[in-house]
Amino acid sequence: MGKVRKAIIPAAGMGTRFLPATKAMPKEMLPIVDRPTIEYVVQEAIESGIEDIIIVTGKGKRAIEDHFDNNFELENNLMKKEKYDLLEKINKSANVEIHYIRQKEAKGLGHAVWCARKFIGNEPFAVLLGDDIVQAEKPCLKQLIEQYEETRSSIIGVQRVADEDTHRYGIIDPKTTQGQRYQVSNFVEKPEQGTAPSNLAIMGRYILTPEIFDFLGKQETGTGGEIQLTDAIQKLNEHQTVFAYDFDGKRYDVGEKLGFIRTTIEFALNNEEIGEDVRKILKELVLDKEVVKE
Ligand code: UTP
Repeated sequence: MGKVRKAIIPAAGMGTRFLPATKAMPKEMLPIVDRPTIEYVVQEAIESGIEDIIIVTGKGKRAIEDHFDNNFELENNLMKKEKYDLLEKINKSANVEIHYIRQKEAKGLGHAVWCARKFIGNEPFAVLLGDDIVQAEKPCLKQLIEQYEETRSSIIGVQRVADEDTHRYGIIDPKTTQGQRYQVSNFVEKPEQGTAPSNLAIMGRYILTPEIFDFLGKQETGTGGEIQLTDAIQKLNEHQTVFAYDFDGKRYDVGEKLGFIRTTIEFALNNEEIGEDVRKILKELVLDKEVVKE
């Protein structure tokens, strides 16, 4: 099997945890300081060597397409005002070739991936969740692609989470370990508290072989009545080896409120333009008895 050239970014979920903000605006467009979450994800794919990206969108997600398109009026305006730094920033997102497909109903992550099957065809591909950011010296997806090149097998990105958080994730039951790479006996989607086989959690980055579509095509529902990608990976693992890789880097879950706020604060503190001021503001707020009540 060939090189990993294509990536799917599912971004068609309802974003219910952010309602009412996400009633008319995609969760993946919520900004972390001044860039929408999905732009970080697209950037990671490009820096990992991906040549073709397809974003799975749905109702109310047009802003994503507009974001990665040209906006001549805005560009002219910035040009006239000689705001070249901003022009460069907006052009960066418009220069990427992106394809789109609509998931007509939010039936789950597995179904979103399945919607892009014709674009993928018969080759290995990447999946990056549109609401997960990973900051790493070597892009997370690149680390997984390197593992794929060694093993020619599906590779699922994982990291350790606290025991009390395992019920929020897909969890692996590792069989054997080779450095950071695990062979896996079982993949379990959101195990009930206290029943997780390990605390290695699936973190929104995958390399999959095209045989996954055979299992996604069965459209079987799992946890929460949704078509789960983890369940199809478990089935795939019964036919061909699927590895998990404990990648280097820090993962930010921007898809839920606390994760989003934490990420925003951390990125703002590290921002060249506003970092110093943000530090001052945070100190003031924490010391302000009116704001921070005991
Ligand atoms: P999430 O479960 O985090 O997103 O799915 P969600 O469903 O939008 O969130 P809540 O639970 O309602 O708050 C992870 C990623 O998979 C996409 C989402 O857009 C998100 O980027 N997804 C999820 C789809 O594309 N389609 C779906 O049917 C479900």
